[in-house]
Amino acid sequence: MSDWAHADPTGGRGLFLSFEGIDGSGKSTQARLLAEALRGRGREVVLTREPGGAPGAEQIRRLLVEGDGGRWSPETEILLFNAARRDHLERTIRPALDAGKVVICDRFADSTRVYQGAVRAQLRGLVDQLHRLMIGVEPDLTLILDTDPELALRRGLARGGAEDRFEGFGPGFAQRLRTGFLELARDYPQRCRVLDGNRPVDVLGAEVLAVVERALAGKVRP
Ligand code: TMP
Repeated sequence: MSDWAHADPTGGRGLFLSFEGIDGSGKSTQARLLAEALRGRGREVVLTREPGGAPGAEQIRRLLVEGDGGRWSPETEILLFNAARRDHLERTIRPALDAGKVVICDRFADSTRVYQGAVRAQLRGLVDQLHRLMIGVEPDLTLILDTDPELALRRGLARGGAEDRFEGFGPGFAQRLRTGFLELARDYPQRCRVLDGNRPVDVLGAEVLAVVERALAGKVRP
């Protein structure tokens, strides 16, 4: 096992931000708006996503989010998410942080903790072990958008498309995920901020930018 992923837990000189939340929570929109706002202020930003964010990881994404989900066991699925994450870290995240850029990641390891680990509680230990072994880094700041599952589901259905693997499970599943993200925020209070995702896009966006500007002031030299 290469140990580079564990050498510098917060990664290089840049700032590593992740957005988390249930499907339709608004995180992809907020990640894009934040990237635009920071670029407008002269920051170098890499906007990326999981699963995916690098050519090989995007190929793994298609295995995960398209087609018959029943073809993977829960354990295999966890391995695939970690394989995609490792590739993403090696090819995209680590080089950008080393170059002092701001990395905005639409989902990271917290999604595996919640989607694969909180919903199937018996697998959480496996999720944590694999993370320690193969990933070993956490974002500097994680913004969890806490959105009403009914609203999120309407947004998700409105989006449509082929990537319906995890969105097809309905509001009961979304509610369990929501609870999982809130518990996660309590487990990692130093890096997690929970923001009310039910508010209008611009109101939420202003708060996101304010929180991130404070983090940048604390970490990245202008
Ligand atoms: P996205 O719609 O936010 O791009 O994410 C794709 C789906 O993959 C979404 O339903 C959440 C799910 N997912 C997991 O189940 N575990 C993970 O580790 C990640 C990153 C995503």
